[in-house]
Amino acid sequence: MAIVCRPARMDELQRADDIVVASINEFTEKRGFGKMASSRPPNFQAFSLTDDPDGLWVADDGGEIVGFAWSWICDELWFLAQLFVAPDRQSGGIGNQLISKTFAHAEMRGASIKALITFAFNNVSQGLYIRHGLFPRFPIYMVSATRDHLASTLAEPQLRLESLTAKTAGFDQLALIDRSALGVSREKHHRYLLGDSTTSGFTIHAASECVGYVYISDGHIGPLAVRRPDLVGAALAAALSFAVQSDFPTISAFVPGASEPALRVATDHGMHLTFPMLLMSNRQFGNWASYLPRNPGFM
Ligand SMILES: CC(C)(COP(=O)(O)OP(=O)(O)OC[C@H]1O[C@@H](n2cnc3c(N)ncnc32)[C@H](O)[C@@H]1OP(=O)(O)O)[C@@H](O)C(=O)NCCC(=O)NCCS
Repeated sequence: MAIVCRPARMDELQRADDIVVASINEFTEKRGFGKMASSRPPNFQAFSLTDDPDGLWVADDGGEIVGFAWSWICDELWFLAQLFVAPDRQSGGIGNQLISKTFAHAEMRGASIKALITFAFNNVSQGLYIRHGLFPRFPIYMVSATRDHLASTLAEPQLRLESLTAKTAGFDQLALIDRSALGVSREKHHRYLLGDSTTSGFTIHAASECVGYVYISDGHIGPLAVRRPDLVGAALAAALSFAVQSDFPTISAFVPGASEPALRVATDHGMHLTFPMLLMSNRQFGNWASYLPRNPGFM
């Protein structure tokens, strides 16, 4: 039976995520990086499906899901959050079929920027994306350290964090910070994060001025954005100082290679580079010295 790429349904998101996790781990283990992904409730996928059903697709082979593609759009930015094919079905053209569906989503919405984050060590995905007009821009490193080690290296933070909740959030202010860092507003994604009980949000302050925001969940820092690139190092240091007070034994973040001060803070505090990822896009956008993504799907 021919494989059909069709819109995903809400009750399929968990199964699709199982395939994504299996596909990531098969790939990262094969390349010597160990398992990278673990199964979690597909809450952000469900949020995206409700927000924009045209962005999520499954490859269906006679009732069996063998691939999954998911993109979201904010203003003129289309972002490919996931494109995965079951390990035993790769190199059979399914990735190409799914990418056509998800690119149609970008065309339909007139999104002029297309971007994604893929594994820096996956030549197949990069070849596929380059052929579709998305080119490598810079690496993004997953960095991590034990909480105990970090705690022994951190000085008093120069910037202050204040708790951010859905009730107190100034969404206009968050949108302004995102526009200065990324060129687009991500208001709907702030609403998603602030509704997620496992994630804590904060605004970042220099004296009385709000200079950025950060989210922290399970010891993982991101997204983090600041109004100006010269603030990013101090902002990451403040987030690390907060994160080490948690019970989580490992503290991690995603740091763009384009953000020298943030990388310097991470390495000066003994954080190790665990997974090298890569930002690919059809053109330059945003100021990535000022932004740390949450993960390759949320950006
Ligand atoms: C990346 C992935 C989605 C591609 O799906 P797929 O079904 O295997 O891909 P297809 O068979 O449709 O196409 C693969 C393309 O890559 C090309 N390719 C393979 N190796 C390549 C290389 N070393 N350099 C350049 N292109 C290469 C193939 O020629 C093919 O292109 P063509 O059909 O135009 O000839 C799939 O391999 C996968 O899930 N990988 C693991 C997880 C992952 O990295 N996902 C992407 C995360 S963003």
